[in-house]
Amino acid sequence: MSIEGGSALNQAQRSLPGPIRSEAVTRASDHHELPRLRGNPLLEARARIADLSPENPVVEELRRRYAFGVPTPPALELIAAASPAGIVELGAGTGYWARLLHQAGVDVVAYDRWPPPCPENPFFAGSEPWYPVLPGDVAVIGRHVDRMLLVVWPTRNETWPAGALAHFHAAGGERVVFVGEGPGGRTGDSVFHCLLGDEGRCLSCELGVADTPCTCGIRPLWQATSSVEVGSWPGVDDDCIVYERVDDRRFLNRRRRRKPWTGEAG
Ligand SMILES: C[S@@+](CC[C@H](N)C(=O)[O-])C[C@H]1O[C@@H](n2cnc3c(N)ncnc32)[C@H](O)[C@@H]1O
Repeated sequence: MSIEGGSALNQAQRSLPGPIRSEAVTRASDHHELPRLRGNPLLEARARIADLSPENPVVEELRRRYAFGVPTPPALELIAAASPAGIVELGAGTGYWARLLHQAGVDVVAYDRWPPPCPENPFFAGSEPWYPVLPGDVAVIGRHVDRMLLVVWPTRNETWPAGALAHFHAAGGERVVFVGEGPGGRTGDSVFHCLLGDEGRCLSCELGVADTPCTCGIRPLWQATSSVEVGSWPGVDDDCIVYERVDDRRFLNRRRRRKPWTGEAG
């Protein structure tokens, strides 16, 4: 760890109250008693690091400690404005986005298949959570269709993110927000992006891309209505995009509005 990066991380640690103890995550009601986080330690630490390349171990440590997606103020504002009935987050990792949204006044229920710090989590084993993240898989989101579904950096080329979109739609969910990269990027698989209406071609049949599922015949279940650029890390092209459910009768070919992010910490 570089001295510069280490000091950025240390400064971030000093802006605690910080993460919550792992035993607290078993009690969902605990989020009502969470101390207020001062600022956005991940965003502030990132602003202090000169070398933001993925090879810098500090960047890797920040991701492990906080999140893959960087919750910028415009993204948090967009999500809060689009979720008056609250959020159900799946694949929440450490719950860092959940914590900041909770502080912004959003009612958040967060799930992960392997809530940190459990050792099975391939990304966050040993990381203390920032919010009570409950154990749960795709099936649990069907209990929360009154809320907006949030997925941030869903795992690349795994099937659960697409499964979540299909299950939430079938259960009657109305709205989804996704933070991550578009088709061919580091988040989700081609089925996921087809269901979101962001990938019009079958990469397997039309472009001959190996190791990607055939998406011929998959119709979009969701349609983008608004978005902001996130600008997580150099070389990462993240957007925060809100989608509304598509039923055949409601499929309108509206273009979404995308606001550029100015880079201000807010
Ligand atoms: C790349 S991480 C992103 C975590 C977090 N959203 C972030 O931005 O840091 C993907 C997360 O999805 C979780 N996950 C993997 N399979 C899952 C499943 N079937 N249901 C729910 N969560 C799952 C992993 O445990 C991991 O925490």
